[in-house]
Amino acid sequence: TDYETITVERTGDRTALLTLNRPKALNALNLQVMEEVVAATEALDRDPDIGCVVLTGSAKAFAAGADIKEMQPQGYMDMYLTDWFTAWDRLGNLRTPTVAAVSGYALGGGCELAMLCDILLASDTAVFGQPEIKLGVIPGIGGSQRLTRAVGKAKAMELCLTGRTMDAAEAERAGLVSRIVPADDLLPEALAVAATVAGMSKPVAMMAKEAVNRAFETTLAEGVRFERRLFHAVFATADQKEGMSAFVDKRAPDFTHR
Ligand code: HXC
Repeated sequence: TDYETITVERTGDRTALLTLNRPKALNALNLQVMEEVVAATEALDRDPDIGCVVLTGSAKAFAAGADIKEMQPQGYMDMYLTDWFTAWDRLGNLRTPTVAAVSGYALGGGCELAMLCDILLASDTAVFGQPEIKLGVIPGIGGSQRLTRAVGKAKAMELCLTGRTMDAAEAERAGLVSRIVPADDLLPEALAVAATVAGMSKPVAMMAKEAVNRAFETTLAEGVRFERRLFHAVFATADQKEGMSAFVDKRAPDFTHR
């Protein structure tokens, strides 16, 4: 498939790499990028041979935000009738696990895109923020909600009200990113994490993702009940038999993703 603003490669080990590719605009997220990222990831999501997808940008910018030049002339009716940015929600609804490999700027929509992914790895050069307020707008791809859930009210409120950015170390301390890796190691490390995830049973990984995500949607008691139902359900998979048999037999499991 031909995409203009992204590249998609199959990187082996049941993984795929999606790279944002608008270098002149620091990967600003216009509607075409949104459509291409969503179409490409949904196609990968349907592919039983893909177990994890890595999203990345360039060394300088994961994405410097939504495309300000595209939004600048829009009015309320334009935004409402095109339902601007709503298609991004579909990225968060993928069942296949995703890894964001963030180097450089992840601002505004770029930070929101990273937060739509399941595992967030940052290079030591990463910069995160929701600076929309400096442009007279607010986050529009879930930033006010996901950043607050990730780092708490104190930092989320300060970042959204002042536009201040966080470096990688602050983002890791705050719990926004799972780990920081040296810039040169970011992509190999992200692909290695993806290969590890993709080596697990795909349906079981999908259920683990669903269970963790449920924590953001419901009460503790309901979330634990939801987990318990999925936990019982994994005993209907061939991969549970294989995983536990392999342990007992002291060998590596060979999951069939069923
Ligand atoms: C459109 C952008 C862009 C963006 C950068 N560019 N960010 N174009 N939308 N978000 C373009 C610049 O206009 C410039 O194009 C080229 O990319 C290089 O950027 P420079 O500014 O020259 O680079 P540099 O000096 O290194 O500064 C990097 C930067 C700065 C600090 C990241 O570009 C910046 O502040 N960008 C905007 C960050 C931001 O506000 N993001 C939030 C967007 S709003 P030319 O043609 O001049 O070379 C958002 C809203 C989400 O995301 C939902 C609510 C509406």
